[in-house]
This record gives sequence, C-alpha cells and structure tokens, in this order.
Amino acid sequence: MKKSTIKNIGLGTAAIGRPQYINIRQESSSEFSLEAFRQKGLVILDEAYLQGVRYFDTAPGYGMAEQLLMDWVTKKDDETIEIATKWGYTYVANFAPNAIQHEVKEHSLKKLNEQWEESKVLLPLLTTYQIHSATFESGVLVNELILNRLAELKIKHGLLIGISTTGVNQMEVLKKALDIKINEESLFDVFQVTYNIFDQSLATVVGIIAKQNKRLVIKEALANGRVFPNEKYPHYAAAYKKLEELAITYNVGLDAIALRFCMDSIPVFKVLSGAANEQHLSDNLKTEDFKLKEEDILFLKKLAVSPDFYWDERKRLGWN
Ligand SMILES: NC(=O)c1ccc[n+]([C@@H]2O[C@H](COP(=O)([O-])OP(=O)(O)OC[C@H]3O[C@@H](n4cnc5c(N)ncnc54)[C@H](OP(=O)(O)O)[C@@H]3O)[C@@H](O)[C@H]2O)c1
Repeated sequence: MKKSTIKNIGLGTAAIGRPQYINIRQESSSEFSLEAFRQKGLVILDEAYLQGVRYFDTAPGYGMAEQLLMDWVTKKDDETIEIATKWGYTYVANFAPNAIQHEVKEHSLKKLNEQWEESKVLLPLLTTYQIHSATFESGVLVNELILNRLAELKIKHGLLIGISTTGVNQMEVLKKALDIKINEESLFDVFQVTYNIFDQSLATVVGIIAKQNKRLVIKEALANGRVFPNEKYPHYAAAYKKLEELAITYNVGLDAIALRFCMDSIPVFKVLSGAANEQHLSDNLKTEDFKLKEEDILFLKKLAVSPDFYWDERKRLGWN
C-alpha cells in the first residue's frame, strides 16, 4: 500500500550498487549473478519509491548504483524525486567477489570533469553534487581550480554543492568547508556526515550548520551494522540492552531506534537508509512512524564513544 511521502529517510544506494561494501556481514557463499543483483537493486528502488522515499543518494564509486538510478528514474515522471551524487571515487572491483581493491580515490579536476559528464544525465532531478569523502590529505578543499569549477556548476545548473566526510577529523573538515567562499558566496550547501549513537561528534557543530541554513544528511546511522547485538563488540553491551528495550517499547526494530535517534537528537535534512533488501527497507522506514521521548534521547546520548575509538574500529571492518 502506498504510504504518504517519507520525509526524513533517503535511500543510500551503495549496497545495491556493488556486492561488497564495508560492514560486519559474513561473506555469502552463494554464486553471484550480475543480472540478478541488478534486478534486485531495481526492486529496492521501486519499493522505496512506493513506500514514499523521494531522496536518493548515489556515486560512481558505488559500482552500478548510479547507472541503476539513471535507468530507473527515466521511467518515473515525478519532479519531487531528488538525486544526490558525488564525484571522486572510481569503482574498480568489476563485481569480482574476491577483489582486493574496490575503489580508487582521485580528487583531481580531470576526475571531476570526467564524472560530471556521466552524472549530469541525472539533471534536472539531480539537485545535489558532492565531493566524495573530502579530506585534508586529498587537498580538494584548497584546490582553487576544483572549487571554482564546482561554483560554476552550482550557478549554471542550480545545484546544491556538498561534501561527504569520513574519519576521525570529520568535524575539522566540515568546519573548513563551511568557511569556503567563491565570489563571496558560501560554496557548500550540503554536508553528508557519519553520525550515530556511537559517534556523536557532529552534535558539537550542528548549531553552526543550522544557523547557516545548510542541509545535513546522515550516513552510517547504523554504524555499518555495529548497532545490532554482536558478541565481537562486548563494549557496546549497555547500548545493545537499551536499544533492545526501546525496540520493545516502540514496537519497532533496533534499526528504527538507531535511525530515529539521528533525527530526534539533531536537526537533520535526511538520514540515509543503506537497505539492500526489502525487509531491511521496510524495517528502516518504520522510523517515520514514531518519535523518541526526551528521556530516551538523553539516555542514548550517553552511549557515544570517542571518535578515535569509533574510527579505529571502523578501519578494521572488512569489505563483505
Ligand atoms: N560518502 C561516503 O563516504 C559514504 C560512506 C558510507 C555510506 N554512505 C552512504 O550512506 C548510506 C548508508 O550507509 P551504510 O549502508 O553504509 O551504513 P549503515 O546504515 O550504518 O549500515 C548498514 C548495515 O546495517 C545493516 N542493516 C540495515 N538494516 C537492518 C535491519 N533491519 N536488520 C539487520 N541489519 C540491518 C546492513 O546489513 P546488510 O549487510 O545485511 O545489508 C548493513 O550491514 C550508503 O548507502 C551511502 O549512500 C556514504
């Protein structure tokens, strides 16, 4: 049955675009079929749309995801759909189950222009163009040729320009990006940031972001699956206990509690669901059916670990 439009959840397409990505899942032993994988991705896009999702996040670095979205969206006549894509990573694993290298990062003007030529097909539903994983190391935030080119695309196509951030110094990168101006206009409008019950460092800067009227999009809200009880992470035992209690109270899954925390604890534009199957998608979307009570939010706020600890653990997760 068609739900009314989903307001807060967007669909992240990383997991429907490439068979392996960073999570805690065990390796699958079944044989991989590229066509079956493609069809499954299309089913998720259809199902998300049917259930009211209108914001879709993708990237050329997500295997076939961006192409899948292009193929799918041409059949939709709906200008309420918003697509956000990124540039800066090239997918190189060719869907091989044993690939050692999955993606190559390149923050050069050449890569930006090359990937823009492909991604622009998504216009006019493409509203948001982001630097994929902006870091100090890649030099992208001080590369004037790139910043000017992004400003040019912003004006010419009416785009929102954004960055996604990853790693222990996400907040420093975000603050640096907030200060970047081209022709006296702030360049970046959208910040796609990791935030979840374990890494809550974003909460320290949300005031500045809200004041400047920027969009905040949350990724990795389920901490790559670490919010689900797992004996490998005994240090999260208190969190698991509380999440399980809340899941019973609100009659939803742990995923919905963890996603809802991201919406109720800070002002966000969207929280991304990374669902790759229909069950996870409908579980994740239950987030829209309730709100956490103030006392529950306060308790969940106490479950944060230090960003150093969080990102050190994240680095040790494999591509599964
Ligand atoms: N810009 C970037 O650098 C960047 C990086 C990461 C993500 N993203 C964006 O953010 C989106 C979401 O992030 P994400 O998917 O990586 O992280 P996530 O939402 O933190 O975690 C997804 C994990 O949760 C599991 N899961 C989800 N719903 C579940 C349920 N109901 N029951 C049990 N397990 C469940 C998934 O299981 P399975 O393993 O079984 O699927 C997967 O392991 C991505 O699709 C992408 O668009 C961007």
